[in-house]
Amino acid sequence: ESTFIHRFEPATNAGSPPLLLLHGTGGDENDLLGLGKMISPGSALLSPRGRVLEHGMPRFFRRLAEGVFDEDDVRRRALELGDFIADARKQYGIAAPVAVGFSNGANIAAALLLLKPDVLAGAILLRAMVPLSDPPKAELGGKPILLLSGQADPIVPASNSAKLAALLSEAGARVDHKVLPAGHQLSQADVTLARNWIGSVD
Ligand code: MLT
Repeated sequence: ESTFIHRFEPATNAGSPPLLLLHGTGGDENDLLGLGKMISPGSALLSPRGRVLEHGMPRFFRRLAEGVFDEDDVRRRALELGDFIADARKQYGIAAPVAVGFSNGANIAAALLLLKPDVLAGAILLRAMVPLSDPPKAELGGKPILLLSGQADPIVPASNSAKLAALLSEAGARVDHKVLPAGHQLSQADVTLARNWIGSVD
């Protein structure tokens, strides 16, 4: 079962990469459409709603506590999301997307990169954490990844985001990691950096 409630907006500029928008806990498929348009005007936007509910709040996988993940569920849900993306690519005729994930959405995108690297062309990970304590040896073959962390993020310790950057780099990704003067919430700098970054990768 790989059906997700989602929004799709076709590209208005064929040269812009499709974006996969992945919301944070308690968000939905509408949340990041505006952000996607700011980051990459003209891109096709594919935006699923997480299928796990935590006290009614949609997420992309189960957690035992804040920052403590049900890793079996992370694996299962990442593969399920990968299947959805493959189906959506056929249905809508789009290339492999660049993920734009915030918080829980960034964490499932990181899991997808480690478990099914071919699904994504690259990723913008906003306030991401290490999603799996014992990830498989992934081959990310030069995939571009922008990781933006908040220096005062109460959910993601600096050591954790540094570890994620190292993990992705060791797997062969081209990782650009920046630590912003921000907390867990996004700031204007996130939008500006993401827009400049996506314009500079091929
Ligand atoms: C998570 O559960 O993925 C992280 O704790 C981030 C969050 O959703 O708050």
